[in-house]
Amino acid sequence: MGTKGREIVGMDVEQVLKLLNRAFADEWLAYYQYWLGAKVAKGPMKEAVMAELIQHAADELRHADMVANRILQLGGTPVAAPEQWYKLTNCGYDAPEDPHVVALLKQNIKGEQCAISVYKSMMETTRDADPVTYNMALQILQDEVEHEEDLEALQEDVALMLKAR
Ligand SMILES: [Fe+2]
Ligand SMILES: [Fe+2]
Repeated sequence: MGTKGREIVGMDVEQVLKLLNRAFADEWLAYYQYWLGAKVAKGPMKEAVMAELIQHAADELRHADMVANRILQLGGTPVAAPEQWYKLTNCGYDAPEDPHVVALLKQNIKGEQCAISVYKSMMETTRDADPVTYNMALQILQDEVEHEEDLEALQEDVALMLKAR
């Protein structure tokens, strides 16, 4: 825990830690959803979709790392048991039970849109009070916005391909 680093937070640190642990649960669930989706994907443009999902999985894991580091800096503990992820998550988990690329893209776009709202809201809460968390949320938000756009572009290409048949 950084003593001065914690001291400069101009809001209830426990409240920030709560938000961070919820986001931490989201990132792990998003990581797993992408990771498994990339394994099972079937259908048109499968290779391109798989490559994108693998890349997003890696990004979500990196986000989990960033959030965990911030939790530790603030003297908190990243949620220790995976069973807590389901209790804390903002965005939930959509099991990739239907391996069709159209279904996977739709699920993951929904997840990204939720993640965008979560980090936008974290930025609003921390804006003046906790610039370090704010900056972390901004960095992650930039990735999530990019993720949404990547998936929507793929969704469009798949739709065009299916129409052309
Ligand atoms: Fe993420
Ligand atoms: Fe994402």
